Amino acid sequence: MTGVGRRCVLVALALGAIAGCGDDATQRPVAVGAARRGGTSESASPSPPADRVGEARSRFEAELARAYPAEAPPARVTRRFELRAAPTTIELIDGRSMAVWAYNGQVPGPVLRARLGEEIQVTLRNDLPQPTTVHWHGVRVPNAMDGVPGVTQEPIAPGATFTYRFVPKDPGTYWFHPHVRGAEQVERGLYGVLVIDDAESLPYSRDEVWVLDDWRLGPDGQIDPRFVTRHDLAHDGRWGQVVTVNGDAQHRMVVRPGARLRLRLVNTSNGRVYRPDFEPLEARVIAVDGLLAARAFPYEGLELAPGNRVDLDIVVPSDGAGRAFQVTDRFTRRPHPLVTLVVEGEPVSTPAFDPPTLASFPEWEGADHLPVDVTYALNARRGGPHGIQWTINGRPWGQHEVTELHAGRWTRVRFRNDSARLHPMHIHGQFFRVLTRDGRAVNEPFFRDTVLVRGRETVDVGMVPVDWGRWMMHCHVLEHAEAGMMTEVDVGDFGRMDP
Ligand code: C2O
Ligand code: CU
Ligand code: CU
Repeated sequence: MTGVGRRCVLVALALGAIAGCGDDATQRPVAVGAARRGGTSESASPSPPADRVGEARSRFEAELARAYPAEAPPARVTRRFELRAAPTTIELIDGRSMAVWAYNGQVPGPVLRARLGEEIQVTLRNDLPQPTTVHWHGVRVPNAMDGVPGVTQEPIAPGATFTYRFVPKDPGTYWFHPHVRGAEQVERGLYGVLVIDDAESLPYSRDEVWVLDDWRLGPDGQIDPRFVTRHDLAHDGRWGQVVTVNGDAQHRMVVRPGARLRLRLVNTSNGRVYRPDFEPLEARVIAVDGLLAARAFPYEGLELAPGNRVDLDIVVPSDGAGRAFQVTDRFTRRPHPLVTLVVEGEPVSTPAFDPPTLASFPEWEGADHLPVDVTYALNARRGGPHGIQWTINGRPWGQHEVTELHAGRWTRVRFRNDSARLHPMHIHGQFFRVLTRDGRAVNEPFFRDTVLVRGRETVDVGMVPVDWGRWMMHCHVLEHAEAGMMTEVDVGDFGRMDP
């Protein structure tokens, strides 16, 4: 356990560009900052004529309709869970005794598992000293089940209970966490994973969840109780000095030679981004942020920002007995060991099947030439209860403008980062695809619900909102969100505009 790294002085907040310092949080590849800012250059080439735009939108909408359903399947059975959120003391990190806030007395909280076509009912009992809610990150729940205080429900008071019920629409890896004082409640240990299995399961040898989190500890070895500090606000949120996988700083997983693993990685950190390195193991990505990808593809360092999930398909070498593989996070200059995969025991015969893929993935050919419908400028300013406010289009949460999005309409959304910090932007209840980064087309063969926007970077995404209601759109660096970086989109029938 070493210190957090160099202290740094908060440099003046000039024009919202918050200056950083070289601590652990400094991301590696520095975003290129050249000529892309002025001019908002909606595109280098002129927009196609209106009828062509309308035709393309309709085509994209039809493609989306084949990718995932607007409605949930009819539920055959109900699966009931109970969650109790309460302070407790448990063994964590390296077996030390830690005071945490936990679901059902464990950190990470329980993995809730259900099958597509089942209704989920979760009754939360709040035994915390604060109000709370549960948000089902990435799950297309009915809006009233989304767990956002003041928007979709009243906060659950200490001593009270609330029952969430929904029928998931999509199989995959999701997670849940409070949406009240998230920077504190999540950091203290309140999070768990929700796995929705496909109607029929694939014969992986093992299907495991790896919850990645980091901890900022005080000199007493306990969770540092100073939340949402000015330092964290001026940087990429709260980054801890200890990294754990499933609550363990030296996580070991024992696997048989030849085993085929499905690993579900979830980043529950407040601010830390991970880039796990599996070398020399060959890892293939099969799902991102829940939904399966268009095709399995080599892992190659996809970044896991706060909120992101990635599902990997890995075959343990059949001659690997006696070996150990170290999985290491390499997002920062300081590598963090994550997991040691220890190969032991008799070889198993590797299950042979094609990796799962999404039934129909929308290619959205030419989407990068369509006009931008909504722009969100991301920045900071002085003021507010924390001394720094993070803003979207110049407004912090509370003064925000609700964006109306037409249900069923293909929409291009631009995130323009006018600051130097990292902003993993997350939209509740919707999936989207990245179209361009700094004006260059990118072709990610998967959907996301959270995209990392680097300092000074502009990221455009395409989406067809099909889930109605008022949904949060916010930075998943929880300190940034707490200090204002949240807004709402309202998905409904606002009359179709043309094109
Ligand atoms: Cu994990 Cu509002 O989100
Ligand atoms: Cu969410
Ligand atoms: Cu942010």
